[in-house]
Amino acid sequence: MKIAVACDHGGLELKNAISKFITDLGHEVEDFGTYTNDSVDYPDYASKAALAVASGQVERGIVVCGTGIGVSIVANKIKGIRCALAHDTFSARATREHNDTNMLALGQRVIGEGLALDIVKLWLETEFAGERHMQRIEKMMSYEGE
Ligand code: RB5
Repeated sequence: MKIAVACDHGGLELKNAISKFITDLGHEVEDFGTYTNDSVDYPDYASKAALAVASGQVERGIVVCGTGIGVSIVANKIKGIRCALAHDTFSARATREHNDTNMLALGQRVIGEGLALDIVKLWLETEFAGERHMQRIEKMMSYEGE
């Protein structure tokens, strides 16, 4: 899969670890930065990854900041994006099965790298369950722009 990654200074180390991890899993990574520890504004980076997902340039996106909250809010502002902040494996699986999320947000200051990488793997591997969840997603997306 082609996957966009992006972060701010609060998520740099985890973003780099995720990039290496998913590359080793056989995925192709498009890294939208940031690339240094200099303080930056997370909307500038999360939006680039989200726009790449929304345009179809990549299939999925993973965004990281200190909490994961800022980048998840930004991503969900972009039309077509369903971004989940998931810091546990149950949520990571459920949000793919039920919400067909196309982006994942993580907080480097919230969880350790080992759990984060388990979450990433599970989120990438879990398929959308379809059926009853389909109409719920259609309803959810119908609120875009309101
Ligand atoms: C940066 O200090 C921090 O605010 C950011 O990484 C993120 O946690 C915002 O939601």
